[in-house]
Amino acid sequence: MAIIEEIMNCFKEKFGSEGDIRAYFAPGRVNLIGEHTDYNGGHVFPCALSMGNYGVARKRSDKTVRWYNMTYPDNGVQSADITKLAPTDEGLWYNYQHGVLWAFMQNGYEIPCGYDMVMKSDMPAGSGLSASASIEELAAIIVKDLFNLDVTMVDCAKMGQYSENNYNGMNCGIMDQFASAMGKKDNAIFLDTATLEYEYVPLNLKNEKIVITNSKVKHSLADSAYNDRRRQSEEALKDLQTVTDIKTLGDLDEAGFEKYSSAIKDPVNYKRAKHAVYENQRTIKAVKALRAGDMAEFGKLMIDSHVSLRDDYETSCKEIDILVEEALKLPGVIGSRITGGGFGGCSVSIVKNDAVEEFKEKVGNVYTERTGLTAEFYIADAADGARKLY
Ligand code: GLA
Repeated sequence: MAIIEEIMNCFKEKFGSEGDIRAYFAPGRVNLIGEHTDYNGGHVFPCALSMGNYGVARKRSDKTVRWYNMTYPDNGVQSADITKLAPTDEGLWYNYQHGVLWAFMQNGYEIPCGYDMVMKSDMPAGSGLSASASIEELAAIIVKDLFNLDVTMVDCAKMGQYSENNYNGMNCGIMDQFASAMGKKDNAIFLDTATLEYEYVPLNLKNEKIVITNSKVKHSLADSAYNDRRRQSEEALKDLQTVTDIKTLGDLDEAGFEKYSSAIKDPVNYKRAKHAVYENQRTIKAVKALRAGDMAEFGKLMIDSHVSLRDDYETSCKEIDILVEEALKLPGVIGSRITGGGFGGCSVSIVKNDAVEEFKEKVGNVYTERTGLTAEFYIADAADGARKLY
């Protein structure tokens, strides 16, 4: 049975079959390059995935929301009064939904009543593929559609980020929500996070596949380590602003960084800023290379990105370094790097079509030998963003 029918049946069982019940989907994302640049005014290059969170919903006449997540049946039916939502730092799935409703209201949108909703995910959670942004964008598309709000999908992305920053206490940039809201089939999104200008870039790879490898680890304190990185980047920016007139680290290129970087007092902050500046430039170059069909250059930039995330930004971890190291031993692998916020999660690799099976087998086996863990592999298939299904 298609997942959406399964959810619909569950909805009818839990909440009754009458009235106008609508179905929606919002995807996760994989970032190809441009990591930890989105809160530093740089560029990112993610694509939405075909996996994500599905939901069906129906308006209520009072101020209650009720939701049930088939992925977490033990949580039971959650309910809340929409007039009483308040920020929290317990990172549970329903808080991402509450947060989005709250964000719309905080930003002046009228939410006249609550709704009932059942959802289910077909993507791994806590794996750096933005399951949380997918839940946020699912909530955003539901709110937009059920209440007929005059908001764009870019506004939905902004609401998701606003809610995560202000309701859930995670100071993320806008990349994940933007990719989930704005994804386009067979394309990646080249987004300038300083201006939110974006272009779709076709991912018509004829000879290669984008392979995601899930390390199955998530190190604790990842959210606080992420917030630390953001703070360190901001401190470095402040130091740089004493010697040059820039708004974000994304305003500097490599030469500019080398010219002014002695102003950064703290050696750790220096490394963070170096990553942000160089990674932004790498992202611009990678998109150029892709457009020119130069996959070798694209792959090389991915590898440089990984090294910089490992050594300067320090958001990789032992397990992902092993995945990348083993991937790069295979001749059919063009590039490989950690993707997403880091401290676990997934790597993304560009693998020649005829090397994909060997990749899964060899990387999978050595990973188990070296870590005792079992990796999972997904072929990324760039897909459309959040939408109403019917
Ligand atoms: C997480 C955040 C994004 C971005 C990435 C790192 O996924 O939610 O905003 O900062 O990490 O590139």
